Formats: sequence, structure tokens, C-alpha cells
Amino acid sequence: MTKPVVYVTREVFPEALELLRRAGEVRVWEGEGPPPYETLARETEEATGLFCLLTDRVDAGLLACATKLRVAAVMAVGHNNIDVAAATAQGVYVGNTPGVLTETTADLAMALLLARARRIPEAQAFARAGRWRTWSPMELLGTDVHGATLGIVGMGRIGEAVARRARGFGMRVVYHSRTRKAAGEQELGVEWAGSLGAVLEGSDFVSLHVPLTGETRGMIGEGELRRMRRTAALVNTSRGEVVDQAALRRALREGWIAGAALDVTDPEPMTPDDPLLGMANVVVLPHVGSATRATRLRMAMMTAQNIVDVLEGRAPAHCVNAQVVPKARG
Ligand code: DGY
Repeated sequence: MTKPVVYVTREVFPEALELLRRAGEVRVWEGEGPPPYETLARETEEATGLFCLLTDRVDAGLLACATKLRVAAVMAVGHNNIDVAAATAQGVYVGNTPGVLTETTADLAMALLLARARRIPEAQAFARAGRWRTWSPMELLGTDVHGATLGIVGMGRIGEAVARRARGFGMRVVYHSRTRKAAGEQELGVEWAGSLGAVLEGSDFVSLHVPLTGETRGMIGEGELRRMRRTAALVNTSRGEVVDQAALRRALREGWIAGAALDVTDPEPMTPDDPLLGMANVVVLPHVGSATRATRLRMAMMTAQNIVDVLEGRAPAHCVNAQVVPKARG
């Protein structure tokens, strides 16, 4: 019996490929970086399962031609690269990896906050450049994290994990979210701010933890940046498109806010000539929020399992469109 084809858009952990091979014929894109869109579309036409990354655009056009496809699983919790409505209409399950990257991403959000507050990249560059001549009372002065207020926008799993860390650092934490989490506020030690504006106006650091949707795209634009404190810093580990990057450049150049620490940008990768890369008060990382070996392995295994579930006749354990009416098995 011929096995169903699973297309994997990047070299991933062998353990995940092994799991997939038990249920399907695995074809892996071996080129550097993501496959070109045309290649992805052509390969997906043959596939029953698609193992993709957040860099792969799985849009309505591609899905319409992928008549054999029964599951598209992204190795990420964010699934904005997939047109979920089109997938649902085509009877294709969309799998993702919630939960397993929460703590790792929260670690990185905290690291970014600390890096910006205490000017760690600047201090390292200073030492490396041989400029460290003596202990200096006025050199590389940062801002205190303890006692400062962190404003969290989006109190989902990652927002909560960041709040716990911030409390451990002696910060006050205020938040705004689509829905208030009143029941958990006391245990978490966080305060409901009432509105996004109140978070922006009342925080020394603002950390973004919302998924990218039609509602959140461009959510932090000129108006919002102008509401932040001039001494405040913006931390983004969610999606670059949540922030209007042109407005952010202006905000930093003109001093509406004091700094930014970004793990995600718009576009990705950030173009090498983007002025943000040259600003001393900006930390930019290449989207490494979940990048520890253990977490990325868990993400890859979960993605593979989501596909195996469908190939073996079950709904994926982690699925964002459970309401889908699955295609009949071919
Ligand atoms: C996700 O899972 O959405 C992350 O951005 C990947 O690190």
C-alpha cells in the first residue's frame, strides 16, 4: 500500500522525521531557507500532510490546489502564516504547538527587558571594543527593573509566564487583554489596567503577547507610542506586524520612548539597512523566542504528532480548527 506523502518544509530534528516516517512517505525541502512559494505549492499538491514553519505562506490559493491535503501543521504556536478559514473550508486541519514554548519564550522576553534596561548589548560592545579602561561612576547607566512597572498586553499563557518572572524581579505588573482574567489576578499578582491606553501610559516597560490577527495588526502605532512614557521601553516577542515599525523608528529617533527590544520584526528578516539595527537604544534578535534545543525538539515532535494523528484517522491533538469537516481518506 502506498503511504501518504508528508511534505516538510525544512530540515528538522531526525526524531520528528522518524515519527512521520512511521505513517507517511516523508519528503523534506533541503534547500537553504524556506522553499519558494511555487515549490511549496507544487509539493503540497501531492501531499496529505504538510509540516510547515512560520516562514511558509499557506494561503487560500495554495490550499485550493492541494486537493489531497488533510492536515497543515505549523511548528509554532502562532499560525498566522496559514489561512485558517480557507483550510477549514477545504476540510484541512490546522495544527500548532501551544504550551510547549511558553516558558522558553517568557525567558527570552525577560532577557530582552533586562538587556534593554541594563544596556547589556552596549556594555558588551564597549568591553569588546577595548573601551573598558576603569570602573566609571557615570558610564553605561541603565534603568532599574526592580520597582518598575511592567505593562503586559495580551494575558495568554506567555503573558502570564512573563508576569510571574516580572513579579520575581520585584516589578509591579499591570495588564490589558481581550478578556479580563479576574480570577487569576491575585495569585499572579497582576492588576487589570482597564484599557490598552492605561497600560501604555502607566508602564516603564510594555511587553506584547498578542497573536497576530486582523484586530492586532498595527495595534501599536503612532498614537499608542505617543501615549507611552518618554522613559519607557517596548518589548516585542509576539509578531512584528503588531507594531507599526515606521512609527516605532520615529518614536525612537524623536524620543517619544526611550528604547525597544525586539525578537520579531516586520519584515523578517529585518533588512540589514533598517535604522533600528543601528540604534544604541534598540535590541534586535532574529526571532529566537523559542530557540532552545529542548523546546524546539518538543515543538517539532508535537507538529509531527499532529500530522500522524490525522494520517491515522484522528483529529490532531493540537488543532486550531477542530470544527473542520475532514476530507474523506483517499
Ligand atoms: C511561535 O511559536 O509562534 C513562535 O514565534 C516561534 O518561536
